Amino acid sequence: MAITEIKASELDPQDFIRTKAAEISETVGKGCAINALSGGVDSSAVTMVGHKALGDRLKTYFIDNGIMRDGEPQRIVDIFKKQGVKVEIIDAKDKFFRALKGITDPEEKREAITQTFYKDVFGKLVKQSKAKYLLQGTILTDVDETVAGIKRQHNVFEQLGIDPKKTFGYHIIEPLVQLRKDGVRKVAAAAGLPESIFNRMPFPGPALSARVIGEATPEKIRIVRQATRITEEELAGVKAFQYMAILHQDRVTGMRDGKRDFGMQIEIRCWDSIDARRAEPTKLPYDVLFGLSRRLTTEVAGVVSVTYNITSKPPSTMEAV
Ligand code: XMP
Repeated sequence: MAITEIKASELDPQDFIRTKAAEISETVGKGCAINALSGGVDSSAVTMVGHKALGDRLKTYFIDNGIMRDGEPQRIVDIFKKQGVKVEIIDAKDKFFRALKGITDPEEKREAITQTFYKDVFGKLVKQSKAKYLLQGTILTDVDETVAGIKRQHNVFEQLGIDPKKTFGYHIIEPLVQLRKDGVRKVAAAAGLPESIFNRMPFPGPALSARVIGEATPEKIRIVRQATRITEEELAGVKAFQYMAILHQDRVTGMRDGKRDFGMQIEIRCWDSIDARRAEPTKLPYDVLFGLSRRLTTEVAGVVSVTYNITSKPPSTMEAV
C-alpha cells in the first residue's frame, strides 16, 4: 500500500498526535500494546504518542542489547520517568552477542539483530504481556531505503511483504510512517520531550554493531563505545546532522613508545543533512579533528590511526555497515 508523506512544513504536530493517539486507541481497543524504546527520536516519539493513547496499557521496554552507547539504558529510563512513563530495562546482552558471533556481513548482522529482537527477546515479552500489538517508530526514509534495496532497516516488514502476525505472532502499528526525521522531531517536541531527545542525532537500530566493520564482538563493541563517547564529547559543539566513530577491522602499522604497533583504525564521519537521504561531510575545523584524533589515540588503547571520511552520500551511505 502506498504511504502518503506528511512533510514537516505541512505538519501540525499537536493535531498529528491527537489523530494518531485516537487511531491507536481504536485499533488496540481494551487490550494492551507494547513497545521498545531505544531513546532515539523515533521510538521516543512513538512512546509518547502511545502513552497518550493507552496510558499504562502501553508497556514500554528498553532492551539492553549490549551494543548501546555508554550509560544509555539508565539515562533514557530516567528521562521518561520525568514524563510519567514507566520503562522497564530488559538485560538481553548475552543473547545479542551470541547471535552476532561469527557474523561479518552487514546485512547478516542486521538480520541477526532483527531475529533476536523480534523473535527471541520481544516475542517472549509479547507472549508474557498478552499484548497483540507492537508500536514501532518506522519512518518513511526507513521504508524507502529498504524497498529500494539500499539497506535493510531492521524495522521494515510489511513493505517487504513479510506479515509480522504470521512471522512473529503480533500486529505492528507504525504511527510515524508518513513522516521523515524532521517531522518526527516536531512531534517529539510537541509531545513534551526535552530537547536532548527531540534534537538528538539519529542512531541506528543495530546500534554500535553498525559502527564495527566485521564481527561485532564484546571487545570491539567496548572499543567503539569508548571511541563513540569521545567523539560525541569532542563534536558536541558542532552543528551537524550526525557524527560517529567507526572501528575498522584492518590493522595498520603505527608507533608507540618507540616501537612498532600494528594497531587499530578509527574512522570519523560527520554529516550535514536535512533528512538523511543525501548528505555532505561537515567541513570540520582542523583543530577539532586534530584534538579528536589525539584523544582517540591516547585514550583508546590500541588505536594508532584516525581518519575522516570526505565522501558525500551518495555514493557513500552515512553508516559504514
Ligand atoms: P545510511 O547509512 O542508510 O543511514 O545512509 C541513513 C540514516 O539511517 C540510519 N540508519 C539506520 N537506522 N537501522 C536504523 O534504525 C539501520 O539499520 C540503519 N542504518 C542506517 C543512519 O544512522 C542514518 O541516520
